[in-house]
Amino acid sequence: MQQQLAQLVATARQESASVTTRAELEAFKARVVGPHGSLTQVMKGMATLSKEDRPVVGKLINEAKKAVEEILAALLQKVEDAEIASALSAPLDPTLPSPDAPAGNLHPLSRTRERILNSFRKLGFTVAEGPEVETEWYCFDALNTPGDHPARDMQDTLYLPKTFRSADAPRRQEEAMLLRTHTSSVQVRTMLSRRPPFRIVAPGRCFRRDAVDATHSANFHQVEGLWIDRGVTLADLRGVLDFFVKETFGADAEIRLRPSFFPFTEPSFEMDLRSPNLGRLSNRWLEIMGCGLVDPKVLELCGLDPQEWSGLAFGLGLERIAMLVHGIDDIRHFYQNDVRFLRQFA
Ligand code: PHE
Repeated sequence: MQQQLAQLVATARQESASVTTRAELEAFKARVVGPHGSLTQVMKGMATLSKEDRPVVGKLINEAKKAVEEILAALLQKVEDAEIASALSAPLDPTLPSPDAPAGNLHPLSRTRERILNSFRKLGFTVAEGPEVETEWYCFDALNTPGDHPARDMQDTLYLPKTFRSADAPRRQEEAMLLRTHTSSVQVRTMLSRRPPFRIVAPGRCFRRDAVDATHSANFHQVEGLWIDRGVTLADLRGVLDFFVKETFGADAEIRLRPSFFPFTEPSFEMDLRSPNLGRLSNRWLEIMGCGLVDPKVLELCGLDPQEWSGLAFGLGLERIAMLVHGIDDIRHFYQNDVRFLRQFA
């Protein structure tokens, strides 16, 4: 038995010298350790041995196995080295153009945002922006939101540990800093920095202390709208929103304004939309934004005379619109950045 094993290893070593390609390596491996390989056959013979002989032969077989494994490892190294060497020595044509870099595509939220902004651009709106880290005044006080309003609660809003000494408004000395809970703070910033009339849309990131699930994210996006002019009415609000909804969801989409409440608009509404182009959500009323006429108190707080100026405002959730347009059922897909998801929007 000992002799047989020594012979087997010697043969393997000898044969291995002629192996140069990966296919030859596989064939060689099968001949020795495959189901019908030479070493496998010897191992099967173990069953016929007597109890006393077994440990002795077992040891010999293990040694042979180790020797064969070493031969195989060395062969693999040799084959890989040869493969690399041959790849490197292939003739290179430096005059060929380099392969195109793989093209990326816009994130579905960016695409939806651009689509929405484009609809409003057609109505004369321009894009405005504001900071994500806000003071309490811009996010709440100037929007007529009282100190005890639930939205200002620590449970709902992410406050920063630091307070801020505002330079631009002496009447506000120290105030809390927070992550804006809505883009409505951009209404305030715009009214304070521009002369009406104007129409702006303000896209941006917002933050709330929400538990994350299929429809909630602590970080989400809104698009705010504000139109300040003389004599702006509810008819303008309806007209603007109806145009936007038809652009986004098709000419046969309809809107409905449901009375609601926001501290910064009066009257206030929830806008619902209904469209036959929404798959399983077709022809159902779906709530997609808050809106209303700018509360005279807010105009005053922002330095505009409510006798002269009036306005309309609205705020919509970008994720909600993108989910409806593309039939996406879980908000978390937007933030996981799985390319298999993202590629579908190329
Ligand atoms: N800011 C409100 C929200 O986040 C939406 C809104 C914007 C309502 C403008 C009315 C006017 O829910």
